[in-house]
Amino acid sequence: PHLATLLQAMPKAELHLHIEGTLEPELIFALARRNGLGLPYPDIDSLRRAYAFQDLQSFLDLYYAGAAVLQREEDFYHMAMAYFRRAAADNVVHAEIFFDPQTHTVRGVEFGTVIAGLDRARRDARDTLGVSSELIMCFLRHLPQESAFETLAAALPYRDRILGVGLDSGEVGNPPEKFTEVFRRCRELGWRTVAHAGEEGPASYIWSALRDLKAERIDHGVRCLDDPRLVAHLAEHRIPLTVCPLSNVMLKVYPSMERHTLARLLEAGLCVTVNSDDPAYFGGYVNRNYLACFEALPELGARDAYRLARNSLDASFAPETDKQAWR
Ligand code: HPA
Ligand code: ZN
Repeated sequence: PHLATLLQAMPKAELHLHIEGTLEPELIFALARRNGLGLPYPDIDSLRRAYAFQDLQSFLDLYYAGAAVLQREEDFYHMAMAYFRRAAADNVVHAEIFFDPQTHTVRGVEFGTVIAGLDRARRDARDTLGVSSELIMCFLRHLPQESAFETLAAALPYRDRILGVGLDSGEVGNPPEKFTEVFRRCRELGWRTVAHAGEEGPASYIWSALRDLKAERIDHGVRCLDDPRLVAHLAEHRIPLTVCPLSNVMLKVYPSMERHTLARLLEAGLCVTVNSDDPAYFGGYVNRNYLACFEALPELGARDAYRLARNSLDASFAPETDKQAWR
């Protein structure tokens, strides 16, 4: 109970959050009705019951199907505001939010529609909830690099509203080096870079994200523990890992939270952060992720709680003046 209060009260940043992964079943049904779309589930409970995943791909299939209810600017706005209210309740002071433009543009939704809704929510969240935020555009790695270049072209009119680029979707068989050229172009534009690596994929994908994409943070990255040289490199250069504990258990990266390596990663001196990934699908927003770890891993204590929250602020791309105010 004491620890739960502490975990709740700590100011924290959320650095690994897919906005499409915050679509709660209730909102999926509401948006489907509003947009005149059918769903292959008769009701909210049967959709929620389908959230039993075998691996990353079985989750992605449902996640992309759910995102198809997003059509209008208001839909993106509504989804993002619902997230910001949850984040504020968890004492998230800053969120760096992923979005997947290709998931929407393939359905005929304009890039500008996506950005307009998300950007309006960002500004309202700052003004009404006091939560600051940034947008990170992710390329879908199962698609060819040419599709990423087309997405980059569509993003250019909105480049000032985007902080950086990331890489998500099915990892195995789609190593970071597949996107070397498009990431180079994005860095030339002044965008920050992150990449999912070492979730289901091997430690060598983390090396590739660092070497070929110049990723400044690694999303997930838990499989670095297979490579002691890599762990030493990540620690020495203080490259943050955005770990998502409930996601890892739901997607069977670990068989249970008791087996999660969060404490080992901290023990290795890494800049580890705790995040929610796709909270509507994985059973909880960021504070639930913290709490689940501290309940399952007896080696974690109050000092680790402070360390994790402090790491999240340090690892963010927020201006140094903001970081100082939060600490
Ligand atoms: N991994 C890869 N792609 C994703 C994820 C993830 O955890 N969540 C949403 N898209
Ligand atoms: Zn993710």
